Amino acid sequence: MHLAKSAFIGLIALSLFSCRKDEAEIVAYDPTPYTLQYVNNTLPIPDLPTDNPLTVAKVELGRMLFYETQLSLDNSISCASCHVQEDGFSDKHTLSFGVDQTLGKRQAMPVFNLAWHSNGFFWDGRAELLRHQSLLPIQDAFEMKETLANVIAKLKSSGDYRNQFIRAFGSGEITALKISLALENFMMSIVSDDSKYDRYLKGLVTLTESEERGRQLFFAEYNPSFPSETGADCAHCHAGNNFENDLYMNNGLDTEAEIADNGRQNATGDLADKGKFKVPSLRNIEVTGPYMHDGRFTTLEEVVDHYNGGIQNSNSVDPAILFTSSTGLMLDAQEKADLVNFLKTLTDYTYLTNPAYQSPF
Ligand code: HEC
Ligand code: HEC
Repeated sequence: MHLAKSAFIGLIALSLFSCRKDEAEIVAYDPTPYTLQYVNNTLPIPDLPTDNPLTVAKVELGRMLFYETQLSLDNSISCASCHVQEDGFSDKHTLSFGVDQTLGKRQAMPVFNLAWHSNGFFWDGRAELLRHQSLLPIQDAFEMKETLANVIAKLKSSGDYRNQFIRAFGSGEITALKISLALENFMMSIVSDDSKYDRYLKGLVTLTESEERGRQLFFAEYNPSFPSETGADCAHCHAGNNFENDLYMNNGLDTEAEIADNGRQNATGDLADKGKFKVPSLRNIEVTGPYMHDGRFTTLEEVVDHYNGGIQNSNSVDPAILFTSSTGLMLDAQEKADLVNFLKTLTDYTYLTNPAYQSPF
């Protein structure tokens, strides 16, 4: 009896103490800078936005929002429903399903190393900055189908969000601009630089003979006069250590009459841009299929076959691609396999499983 009584008093004392502790917890603006997590330092220094510097608190808030289903009309999907970490933050579906299982129009793009993209977002580049991009899926009728006013109202009812907005921005007021800046911060924090290829660049591992032959084909220029030495010239467009060139190009998927999605023309209004799409990074390409803006190819072998002999002519097709179309790239079965084996050295398992990018909930 006596024991039970003192235990009871102890419990009250404990709960009083923890109660006081809660009240005493000061939620304050926290400008601690966020440092990008590199493993191999094989990427150049990115141009980060000076008007939205990366902070730990903003990255954390952006991560909450990226995994938040309340961003969608019926609270059923989050950004991560179509951008799945183990699939390179892309979608295994050929076209993504939005709210009500509405089928989208394009293949989801992977989210990594976006801090190195300086010329717009989406396949057609219609969003200039990541902060502009990040509010569009919320309102897209084929995606989350929600209004920004509703999202703000929903988030307002959560104390966790109020506190995190204070830490990130110094005030608990929730606005669309702050949501967009936090999402920009989180997406820019996602870095992939720990593939076998990165370790090869650092001299930590060697490539197999097949991967090495594939590497040489990838980087060597196409030269039909010397069939035995000619390369596949992939690096012409998938260039540098992020394997992209920040440009919109036409890689010969369709004839002029077959072009079903005008691509870059939608964003610029320029007929010369019809059929051009963002040159995607080839990092993690092994896990981000299906491939191309409409997900028409399921395997990397099909992609290589396209470049090897399937180029279609149209008005905006890139001259470097057109140049190969009369002979094809002249790759035999072994060379095609070598090229695919090289592409698979670009898979980064550290990024695919990094806890820093997982759901905080
Ligand atoms: C229903 C599936 C779906 C949802 C939900 C979704 N996305 Fe996407 N995402 C896509 C598709 C499809 C594309 C390509 C769209 C296009 O080009 O028109 C894309 C493209 C992107 C890109 C462009 C990447 C680049 O390299 O240009 C980013 C960034 C992105 N999404 C972030 C987000 C964020 C942030 C959210 C949540 C607010 C989100 N997505 C929600 C399917 C989705
Ligand atoms: C003239 C520029 C150019 C060249 C050269 C080029 N590509 Fe591409 N590549 C593109 C563009 C543009 C796209 C996106 C096209 C689309 O979706 O409409 C693309 C898409 C891809 C994709 C699909 C990416 C994804 O996320 O869906 C792969 C894989 C690929 N290319 C591999 C290669 C390989 C391998 C080579 C060399 C044999 C090569 N590319 C040569 C411009 C180029």
